[in-house]
Amino acid sequence: HEADAHRTDLMTLTRHVLNEQSKHPESKGDFTILLSHIVLGCKFVCSAVNKAGLAKLIGLAGETNVQGEDQKKLDVLSNEVFVNALISSGRTCILVSEEDEKATFVDPSLRGRYCVVFDPLDGSSNIDCGVSIGTIFGIYMIKDKDNVTLDDVLLPGKDMVAAGYCMYGSSCMIVLSTGSGVNGFTLDPSLGEFILTHPDIKIPTKGKIYSVNEGNAKNWDGPTAEYVNKCKFPEDGSSPKSLRYVGSMVADVHRTLLYGGIFLYPGDKKSPTGKLRVLYEVFPMSFLMEQAGGQAFTGKQRALDLVPKKIHERSPIFLGSYDDVEEIKALYASEE
Ligand code: AHG
Ligand code: MN
Ligand code: MN
Ligand code: MN
Repeated sequence: HEADAHRTDLMTLTRHVLNEQSKHPESKGDFTILLSHIVLGCKFVCSAVNKAGLAKLIGLAGETNVQGEDQKKLDVLSNEVFVNALISSGRTCILVSEEDEKATFVDPSLRGRYCVVFDPLDGSSNIDCGVSIGTIFGIYMIKDKDNVTLDDVLLPGKDMVAAGYCMYGSSCMIVLSTGSGVNGFTLDPSLGEFILTHPDIKIPTKGKIYSVNEGNAKNWDGPTAEYVNKCKFPEDGSSPKSLRYVGSMVADVHRTLLYGGIFLYPGDKKSPTGKLRVLYEVFPMSFLMEQAGGQAFTGKQRALDLVPKKIHERSPIFLGSYDDVEEIKALYASEE
């Protein structure tokens, strides 16, 4: 009864991670406990997002964050939920959140081996109109938890031990990699469990979709402008690519991961380092893309090789299907 197995042999996210952890005999289940607290945060935000309009959770919180953005009530709420869940897990020592100017150093009595960088609510501009939003996270393992400094998170993305996102869309999905491939889990609200629905996700090597905010075209540099032009007016007689742009990185990246294609948030004359934040947007999504057989490029180098100097540093990013990213890499290389 292979077909029925999943109905009575539920592969939950927790069980899947335990299976993965069994490959690391030295692990004492700390990672599984950390992840279960991240999952708790995602379930909370999922239920808050689903009733946002009803629970007067839409609208502004009346504060602005270090990014200079007006914080939405859900930005603040989800940040607090994740910070509390991560600290109470007893498995973290440093937290970096988009919504907090400074890193949080966990009290030594509750300190664990992991540093978590996260964007508690990604796509805030889409909250009030009910369009998909998400949470993004990346996890580093600390070297020595007794003397913890910011250098323990100002590391290249390739040093992450895990990365993932939760998308609050028509269904609630967690997409996760612990370094050996990418798996997708869908929340079954009747069970309150994330069930494996997308095992071993691989991104198509080439796609038919490009995803960029065309409204910034006036400020693009040469290679980006040339690449987007080729998407719209292919010289080899092939059909033009379709444009899909949600404006929530989680939604645009999730579609790119499943359907193929390329997502671009380039730098431009106005903001040469682009808009997306290295630690908790660029790195986790680049980590997932590479694990799924795609790639991620900053315009200058492999995204995961970048070493951030500040916790809210930004970088241009081009990520998605391997062959599509190769094309824009060639254009930037010829510009050198
Ligand atoms: P956040 O809501 O966490 O600040 O992130 C918003 C980001 C990202 O989700 C999205 O890809 C990008 O902003 C969209 O920016 P534009 O509106 O400038 O296209
Ligand atoms: Mn923001
Ligand atoms: Mn974001
Ligand atoms: Mn955010």
